[in-house]
This record gives sequence, C-alpha cells and structure tokens, in this order.
Amino acid sequence: MHLNSSIAYFRLILLTLLFTGLSISCKKANKKAQYTIGFSQCVGTDLWRRTMLDEMKTELSLHPGVNFIYSDAQNNSQIQIGQVKKMIDQGIDLLIISPNEAKPLADIVEQAYGKGIPVIVIDRKTSSSLYTAYVGADNYQIGKVAGEYIGSTLKGNVNVLEIMGLPGSSPAIERDKGFNESIKKFDHIHVVTKIYGDWLKTNAESQLVKIKDELKDINAVFAQNDVMAEGARNVLNALDKNKVKVIGVDALPGSGGGLQMVIDKKLIASILYPTGGKEAIVTAFSILNKEQFSRENILQSLVVDSSNVQLMKMQYDRIKSQHRDIEKQQTLLEEQEVVYHSQQIVLNIIVISLVLAIVFGGLAFYWLLENRKINKSLEVKNNEILLQRNQLLDMSAKVEVATEAKLNFFTNITHEFRTPLTLILSSVEDLVPNEKLNSEAGKSLKLIHKNVFRLLRLVNQLIEYRKIEYDKKLLNASPNNIVEFVQDIADSFQSNVQKRNISLNLISKEAKILLWFDINMLDKVFFNLISNAIYFTKDNGLIQIIFSRCDDNTVNIAIQDNGIGMEENDISYVFDHFYQADRADSRGSGLGLSLSKEIIGLHHGHISVTSQKWKGTTFNIKLPVGDQHLQDKEKANQVINTENIIEQSKIYSTDLDRVTPAVKEIFPENPKSHSILVIEDNPDLLAYLNEKFSAFYEVYISDNGVNGLTEAYEKVPDLIIADVVIPGISGRSLAEKLKSDFRTSHIPIILLTAQVSIEHQIAGIETMADLYIIKPFNFDYLLANVKNLINNRILLKEHFTSDTSVVEKIPVSKRLDKKFINDFSGIVEQNLSNENFSVDDICKIIGISRVQLYRKVKALLDCSITEYILNRRLKKAKYLLNNENFTIAEITYRVGISNPNYFATIFKIKYGCTPSEFKKNKLI
Ligand code: FRU
Repeated sequence: MHLNSSIAYFRLILLTLLFTGLSISCKKANKKAQYTIGFSQCVGTDLWRRTMLDEMKTELSLHPGVNFIYSDAQNNSQIQIGQVKKMIDQGIDLLIISPNEAKPLADIVEQAYGKGIPVIVIDRKTSSSLYTAYVGADNYQIGKVAGEYIGSTLKGNVNVLEIMGLPGSSPAIERDKGFNESIKKFDHIHVVTKIYGDWLKTNAESQLVKIKDELKDINAVFAQNDVMAEGARNVLNALDKNKVKVIGVDALPGSGGGLQMVIDKKLIASILYPTGGKEAIVTAFSILNKEQFSRENILQSLVVDSSNVQLMKMQYDRIKSQHRDIEKQQTLLEEQEVVYHSQQIVLNIIVISLVLAIVFGGLAFYWLLENRKINKSLEVKNNEILLQRNQLLDMSAKVEVATEAKLNFFTNITHEFRTPLTLILSSVEDLVPNEKLNSEAGKSLKLIHKNVFRLLRLVNQLIEYRKIEYDKKLLNASPNNIVEFVQDIADSFQSNVQKRNISLNLISKEAKILLWFDINMLDKVFFNLISNAIYFTKDNGLIQIIFSRCDDNTVNIAIQDNGIGMEENDISYVFDHFYQADRADSRGSGLGLSLSKEIIGLHHGHISVTSQKWKGTTFNIKLPVGDQHLQDKEKANQVINTENIIEQSKIYSTDLDRVTPAVKEIFPENPKSHSILVIEDNPDLLAYLNEKFSAFYEVYISDNGVNGLTEAYEKVPDLIIADVVIPGISGRSLAEKLKSDFRTSHIPIILLTAQVSIEHQIAGIETMADLYIIKPFNFDYLLANVKNLINNRILLKEHFTSDTSVVEKIPVSKRLDKKFINDFSGIVEQNLSNENFSVDDICKIIGISRVQLYRKVKALLDCSITEYILNRRLKKAKYLLNNENFTIAEITYRVGISNPNYFATIFKIKYGCTPSEFKKNKLI
C-alpha cells in the first residue's frame, strides 16, 4: 500500500468513528420531545391546585420526553384567555384547562378544540360542551352530599349560611344547586344567608365580618371549599360562636388541608374533592396515543368526618410515604441513567480508541516494514555510490599520475625539440645566402627557415606555459620603462609591417612610464599580441598601441587593430588553453593568449579583449603601478636586453612573412583536362600545394573561405581542397554550402585539418565532405586521393544517366545532381525540334552561367552540351525513322536540324549509315 493511500484510508476510518461517536451522543442529546402538553391553571397558589400539579408531574415522570407548558392565570379570566392563546400559537398537541369562569373561557377553549387540539377540561367547566374529555368530581353530587350530611346529622331548627366560590365558576354553581336540592327534603334545615367567598379564605372572612349581625342565629355553615370554611371558623370563633358547625369541601391531606381541620375539630366534615391531576395526564396520553378514553371521567367523592378521618389520614400518609419512595427510586433511577450514559460514553470512547489503536498499530507496522525496505534499498544505493566514488577517486588519481607523467614527457620532448631545431636553424641560415642554390631549392629553404622559427616559438611557449602552470614559476620583476620596452618589441616588426603597408603606431602621453615587470616574461605577451595583430590585419591596415594611466593606479596598454576581428562566440574562449575556433580568425596556436593571460596574472594585472567581426580587435592589458603588490621574492635586478628582444623578434616575426602565390590565368592557353580549387590561409602551404598540383591539374587558389566560395561558383572546379580552419567561413560550412547548391553539388571536397580527434573527423564527413585528411599529410597520399575522387566522378556519370536508380536512397548532393540531369535532359527533350535552341536558352531556364553549365554537364555526363543535344536529336531521329511514316526531310525538321545533308552526314558518322539506308533496312 502506498503511504498516501494509507493516510487516506486512516483518515476515512477516523472520520467514520468520529461520525459514529458523535451521532450516538447527538441521538441522546437531541431526543426530540414527543408531545407538547399545555396546562392552563385558573389559580396555582392554593394547596389544592399545588396538589393537582404535583400529581400531574408525578404521572408525567413516567412519560419522559414530553414538553409540559404550565401557566397560572391568578384567578383572572382575561389573563387565562391570553395564556391559552399563546399556547395554541406555540403549537401544543393537547390542552388541559381548569377554566377560571365558565362563560368567559368558553370561546378560547372552543377555538383550541376547533383547531383540532384535544382539550381536557379539569375540575371547572366552561359553558361550552366542545371539549374532548372532562376530569373531575361531580360538583352537583358534592353539594348534594353536603346537604344530606347536614340534614341527617344536625337536629332541631338549623339555620345554614352558605359560602359560595367564585360567581360564574362551574363548581360554585353546581355545588350550590346540589346543596339546595338535597336540603329540600329536610324541613329543619333553612339556608338563611348566601355569600360569595371567591374560593379564597380572606374573601370569605371579610364578607362574613361584613354580615356579622346576621350570624347571630346561624347554627351551621356550608363553605364550598375548606379554605373558606376555615375562614368562617375563624370569624365565628371570634364572634364566640364556637358551637356553629362548619362543613367544607376538598378534604386535602397535609398541613392546612381539610383532613387536619376535621381532626382539629375546626370542621365537622369535609367532602372529598379529588384534584384529578393524575387522571388528567393518563387521559391526555390515551388521547395523544389514539387509545380508548372516556369523555366524562367523574372522580369519586366521600364525606370525611370524625368517623373516618383518622383512617383517611393514615391512608394519605401511607400513600405519601409510598410516593416518596417512588420519588426516591425515580431519583435513583435517574442517577443510574446518568451513570449508565456516562459509562456508555466512556465505553464508546474506549471502543473508538481501541479501533484507532489497532488501525494506528497496523499502519505503524506497515510503515515500519516500508521504511525498512526503503532503508535497505538506500543502503544498497549508498554502497554503490560509495563504490563508484572510490573508483572515481582511484581513477582520477591514476589519471592525475598519468597526466603528470605525460606532461613531463611532453615537456622533456619539447625541450629535446629545441636542440635539433636550433641545429636545423643554424644549418638553414648557413645555406640561405648560398648563391649556388637554384631558385627552387632556395624557395624550399626559405620555407624551412620560417617554419623552424614557428616551431621554435611554439616550443618556447609550451615550455613557458608549463613553467608557470605546473612549476609555479615566480616573477623576476624589476622597474623598467614599459613604453620603451613595448616600443622596442614593436620596432622589431617594422620590416613585416612595411612589406604589407600596415601602420604600427605607439601612442603615449609620457615617454617614460616605470612599471615593475619581468622582462623575460612580458616580452612574450607583447610579441604574441603584436604578431597576432599583424597576422590578422589586412594589407594597408592600422595597428595602434596606446598607453594610458587609469584612476585605480594602473597603466592600461591597448593593442588595437582594424583587422578581421572575431566572431562573438569565440571572444569568451580566446584565453582558454588550446582553444582554437573553427576558423583561422581565432588567434594563434591556442597557447599564446592563454600564456599571455597567465603572465599578466603573475604580474597582478588583467588582460581583456573586445572585438567586432570585420572591424578589428583590441586587447587591453592593465598593470599595477609601483611595487606594493609584489613580494620580495618576486623582485630581481633585470635590465632590458635589446639583443634578447631581437632574438625573440625573429621567432615571432619571421613567420609573418607571406609568400605571394602566383595568380594563374583563369583560362590558360593549354588547359589541363581537370581543375582543382585549393582554399588554405597558410600562404606557404597554399603556395606549396599550388606548385605541386599544377603539374597535374588546372589549379585555382584562395586564401580565405569567402573568396573560396565565390571561386567555386565561378570556376566550378572538378575538386576542392579546403582547410577546416580558414578565415571568413569555416571549411565545414563551405563544404555544406557547396554540397547543397546544385551548381556545385557534384564537386568532390577534401577537408584538411590539424584536428585529429575522431569527433572532428566525423563532424567533417557529416558536412558531406568527401574526404577528411589530417595534417601533416603526405603530398603523394593527397594526390592519390584527388585522382581517385576525380576518377570516381566518371563512374558516377553512369549512375546519373541510368534510369533505374532509386532517388530516395542517394545522398542529398547526389539527389541534387540527379535532379539537375533530369531538368537538363527534360529541357533538351522539349526543344529538340527547335533549330535555334542554344546553350544560352538552357542557362536562362536553369538559372546558371554558361561556364557553370558547361562544367556541370562535363562533370556529370562527360560530354559537351552541344554534343549532348546533337546526340539526343540523332536518337530521336532514329526513333522516328523506325516508328513513324515521316519523310527524311520531315524528320530532319522535327529534330531541329535545318539542313538534311548535314543531318545525313552526322547520322552516318554516328550510326554508320545514312537515314534513308537506316529506314530501308530498319536497323535498330
Ligand atoms: C381550589 C378550589 C377548591 C375547590 C375548587 C373548585 O382553588 O377552590 O378548594 O374545591 O377550587 O373549583
């Protein structure tokens, strides 16, 4: 498994686990309320109502997840209407209401019912019958029970005071009705006074106080609830009417409840009026869960008096203690549930952690294995690299040793060269003035003389270079006049520059500038730069050596020529060791400038070059003034030795003398059958080759690439010999140009070069040169190759004239030749009947000169153009004689010959019979 995919896999697992964990927690947290039940209470403060609410809550606790909205109207019907409206808007699923008054609340209850909200009316009723269920005791029955109890237990004439609840509230109305109905059967019972206590103790008390005078004859009081009954008791006791019997309703347990009042003998009896809280909730769930329910749920009632009050109290206490137990258990259960939930969360976390640990462990193990694999392969690679590095170190050490050995050998050999060279030089110098020598031998001696100097210069440069580069040769600097020093060197070239009318000027504001330099080293720099400048400057050119002082306490010496300049590409390489560009306009042997740079570096100076092709080159040498930059060991006492300069100058200037090659006539009187063009910038070699080849061929010469190219186009020689390194255009580019031009594509080209590497040879051949000969070469070898190539051309003619050759397979230059032959023969064929058709017409159509056409046809077809045209005419005539019924005169006309006699003559010469004999005998 890939590392990235492992990470992605791990991420997926992590996300899944987190999502699972979160969804479990969320399910618990977001346990949506199943139902919303609204409970509108008319008043909530008294004991009876509080008991009702407690009962409801106890029952609700068995139905978790119910949203229970409770509101207390504080005995105010308007407030209650508003509260119910709000509940409807909140979207309750069921409404439980104990309406304060019957009529005012009827409308809003109907509205709720009309909206499809189930309505449970509890305790009190509205004046409407539109409700879902009613829960409560039968108030009419309660009134009736109270009347019957008074009638049956009180003897004698009994005057009864009735204290009613809130006027307009259904229990007040119904209880009053039942009470009055039942006392009708008892003649000794008379209701003498009725007052409204609004279900409140205080109200009942104040109303009684108001009618205290009427209370004198009262024997009994029926208060519609226990709290109003207690109020009556208090007022009666205060009026010293302790004996008046008081009956109440509700019979609530607990302190302040009716049961206690009966026990305390404040009341003779209380009619039990159950709150119905529990029943209301049970009915609500039956309705919501669409189960069966009773619309009218009438709760049972009974009279509680001294005969059963203790039993009732005991039962209540028991129920209460059971209730407390249930509550305790419920609390415990809730606590357990909390513990269970927290344990479940812990368990989930543990499970998730375990899974994660397993996944992580697996991945870690996998990565560990992968890492081991990677480490192993890295170790192998590392060992391989180490091995290779050691091998390389070993090899480079060996190469270093070998190079050192080679260099030593090279230097020693170079040293060895000096002795034989000196011997040759002195012998040649002895021989040169010898008048007995003929002119041929004299010329050869001069050539030897010059080239010995050239060799000496190269040998010296090599030795010097080796000394500086490898032997870390030190300066032997002494203070000398640099102007005079350079002037002496420049003067030694006077004879060279005069011969070629070159102005070599030295320009300095100061005649004497003292600088610290090593005269035996710095002379080589100036000899080299000045001789280079002369070499690359055209006849009548200008060379200036300009001295100037610079701000940075240095002296600048500029050697400036207006010669052929350098290509931009070559400028940056001129100071590189052994660098030589493809053209002869790169400077020197490839060592002189590199040596110069080393020497100037030793002098703590700087050398740079600027050059523009065909405009000239300037070398700038900067040398520091004073001797602060020199160490003591770099200083010595040296005086400029003019003798030495003269000696050195020979080495540099002898080589500059040019032998002007004899310019041959373009069309000599007695032309040889083949011609060659030699392009070589070394005047001696050019002269040598010219002389040697002249014995066999017509020779054209050129000392630079540009002229060579023009010559090739003009003369269309049979072969071209070119040096690879020639000024203007390289031998390779020259070969490329000539081979891709159909005027010259047929000409064999031999490239001469000093570049011995196989890469150079391949590059040379790739330019389509026919042969690549390395200098030094043996003339006979070169001559044999020239002969061979020219002979091969003759063989090639057959190839070009044959129709079977496959054009695609032959090289580009040969394809060009084939095309030429096709074009040429096509033109001739089309014009065979035209007697005025001439060579000039072909030249015009093909776009080449007469000479070029002549040479090309001669080279490729080995015949003259007129010979070719005549041949074609005769061939066509032969065809017509054989295949058509034309007269001889007609055929003569058709093959473009105006005179039939002439036609007959040449036909006979060619085929050995006259055209009419031929026609007669049908000779093929
Ligand atoms: C409590 C109460 C009870 C009475 C009932 C009548 O508010 O006054 O004492 O029995 O209301 O609705």
